Amino acid sequence: MTSDFDRTALPADLVTLLDAFPRQLWPENPGFHGLAAFWLDRHLAFRKLMTLLRDDAVAVAEGRLDPDQWRPRLARLGSHLVQDLTGHHQIEDSAYFPQMQRLEPRMERGFDLLDRDHDHLHHMIDGFVTAANGLLQAAKPDRTDGARLIETLDPFERFMLRHLSDEEDLVIPLILKHRLD
Ligand SMILES: [Fe+2]
Ligand SMILES: [Fe+2]
Repeated sequence: MTSDFDRTALPADLVTLLDAFPRQLWPENPGFHGLAAFWLDRHLAFRKLMTLLRDDAVAVAEGRLDPDQWRPRLARLGSHLVQDLTGHHQIEDSAYFPQMQRLEPRMERGFDLLDRDHDHLHHMIDGFVTAANGLLQAAKPDRTDGARLIETLDPFERFMLRHLSDEEDLVIPLILKHRLD
């Protein structure tokens, strides 16, 4: 049996509102400009930060970026991603998800899944922080450190992208339906 974390899409029975609010019509919805647009914007920022972190690590591994120039960038981009993602999950878990679940009780299993995702992501964040700190404290980082960080970033990125996309499919239709802002 595969776990939630290996999924390649949301289980069909958890997607309750997406048919009524398909993704391609979100921007045209009168309720889009507010919480929905803000939510997607936050997620886009996480995707961009992850891409920058990955591109830097690849550049180091391929000898196109000096490891000494890499380290301050890694420190800045890495702490930005870790702090923002952690804060984002906190407000989702403590404020938004409980409120949304009250509005749509039949989506309980979907919110349970997102909650488990956050726990799993926190393990991945911890793994990334450990790897990045090791690198920042290393006496003399070299190209192989770039390749090693990619190994840590790969599963983190894959799962973060899965989570962001599935969360959007669950949450944005609910925001539009209930006109949350
Ligand atoms: Fe989330
Ligand atoms: Fe989110």
